[in-house]
Amino acid sequence: MSVLVLAGGKGTRFYSQTPKVMHRILGKPMIWYVVNSAIKSGAKEVVVVVGFKGEEVERYLKKEFPQVKIAYQREQLGTAHAVLCAKKELTEERVVVLNGDMPLVESELIKRLSESNSDLTIVSMILEDPTGYGRILRENRKVVRIVEEKDASPAEKQIKEVNSGVYSFNREKLFKAIEKISPNNAQGEYYLTDAVEIFLKNGWKVDVIVEKDSKKLIGVNNRYELSVAENLMKEKLLKNLMKKGTTIHNPAQAYIEPEVEIEEDVEIFAPVFICGKTKIKRGSVIYPFTYIRDSLIGENVVVESHSWIEGSVIENDSRVGPFAKLRKGTHLEEGAKVGTFVETKNAKLGRGVKANHLSYLGDCEIGEGTNIGAGTITCNYDGFAKWKTEIGKNVFVGSNTLFVAPVKVGDDSITAAGSVITSNVPPNSLAIARSKQVNHEGKAERIREKFRRRKVEHSGTDSKGEEKRT
Ligand code: UD1
Ligand code: CA
Repeated sequence: MSVLVLAGGKGTRFYSQTPKVMHRILGKPMIWYVVNSAIKSGAKEVVVVVGFKGEEVERYLKKEFPQVKIAYQREQLGTAHAVLCAKKELTEERVVVLNGDMPLVESELIKRLSESNSDLTIVSMILEDPTGYGRILRENRKVVRIVEEKDASPAEKQIKEVNSGVYSFNREKLFKAIEKISPNNAQGEYYLTDAVEIFLKNGWKVDVIVEKDSKKLIGVNNRYELSVAENLMKEKLLKNLMKKGTTIHNPAQAYIEPEVEIEEDVEIFAPVFICGKTKIKRGSVIYPFTYIRDSLIGENVVVESHSWIEGSVIENDSRVGPFAKLRKGTHLEEGAKVGTFVETKNAKLGRGVKANHLSYLGDCEIGEGTNIGAGTITCNYDGFAKWKTEIGKNVFVGSNTLFVAPVKVGDDSITAAGSVITSNVPPNSLAIARSKQVNHEGKAERIREKFRRRKVEHSGTDSKGEEKRT
C-alpha cells in the first residue's frame, strides 16, 4: 500500500508563519510523528503533500526521512485537491490517506487499514464534543455522507460520530471519484469527504471502523489543541518508559522527548527536561530541575539537581552537580565528579578527576586522579583565539589557580593556591606563581590607631560633610 499524508494546509488557526505541521510536540514537528507511524506500518511508499511553505517542509522531511516522496499542492483548494496533487507519486493499488495534523495516529491502525479490501474504509470516532469535525451521517446504520461542521444543519451538528481523517481507498476508484468532487460548500473547497457519496452512488463498498480510543485520532487545528496533543503524547511516552523499568516521580512535570533512550532501573525526579538523542544507562539517578540534551549518561551516574548538560558524555559512576553546567564536548571518564557552580566546555576529565566547586574548565584535558581546587579557571580565550590547557595525572591544583592557555602541567605536580600559571610546569613540581607574602609585625595596631584619630577629627559630620541626625 501507499500512505498519503496531507500536509499542504497553512493552519490558519495557528496565526503563524510556520506551516502547521512544523509546529513542535516534544521537540519534534507534528509531521515527524505521522510520517514515523506511516513508515512503521510497513507501507511500500509514503507520500507527503506539501503546500504552504512547502520548501521548508520538504527540506525537513528529506533530511529526516530520505525515503519519503513529496508532492506539491501550489494552491490550497481543499483535501480532495491535495490528494489529486499526489496522483503521479502514488503507485500502489491501496492508498491509506492521513491528515498531517494527527500526531497521535499509530502504525497499527494504518496497517489494519492497508489490509482492508473495501473500496473505501473510513475511521470514525465518538466525541462528547464533536465541534470542528466532519459528522458521519447514517441511515439504517449505514453511512451515507460526511457533512463538514460549516455545512451542517443544527440537527446534524448534534451527531457525535465524527470523521477522524484516516481513510483507506482503492486507488483507481479514489481518483475516479475525485474527478467528480466540486467545491459547492460553505468553504468553497474540494472536500475529500465528498468521496463517500460518490462511492455509494457508484455502488462501491464503503465501510466504517469506529476507533474506541479517540485520543489517538485527535486533529490539531490551533495551539490549544497542540498542547492537548503534546500532553497526550507525553503521557504515552512516559507510560512506555515506566512500563519498561524507569521510575519517574512527579511525571506530570517530566518532559522527555521521543528519541530519548532510558535503560532499566533509572530513577528520575521531575521536573526535568530530557531532550534530543540522549541516552541514560541503567542505575543512574536524575534529580529535579535538570536539563539534559543530546548526551550519553553512563551507568550509576548521579546528576544532582539544577544541572544543565548538553552534548556531553558522562561515563559510569560519575557525579554531576548540583548547579553544574556541562557544555558541548564535555567528557567525564569513569568516577569523575563535577560539582557546584562548575562550568565545563570541550573538556576531557580523566577517571576520578574531581572539580567540586566554582570552576571554569574550557578547552582542556585533565589526567586521571587530578584534583581541581575551588575557583580554578582555564583562561582559554585571549580575545582572539581559543587555546588548550593540558593537566597531567594526579596533579593537585590549588584553589583559585588560573591556567593561562596554552599551557601544560606535568603529572604529579602541585600548583599553589592563587597561582597564575602562564608557562608549562614539568612533572612532579611545585608551581607557585603569586607575589610573596610579607608580614609587618605590630603594624595592624598602628593602622587601627591612625583610623581612630581620623574619626575624631571628622566627628559631627558624615562622609559628605553634612550634619548627622543622631
Ligand atoms: C478534516 C475533515 C473532517 C475531519 C477532520 C479530522 C475534510 C474536508 N474535512 O477537517 O471531516 O473530521 O479533518 O481532523 O477533509 N490540507 C491540504 N490541503 C488543503 C487543505 C488541507 O493539504 O488544501 C491538509 C492540512 O494540512 C491538514 C489536513 O489536510 O493536515 C486536514 O485539513 P484541515 O484543514 O485541518 O481539515 P479539518 O477542517 O480539520
Ligand atoms: Ca484538522
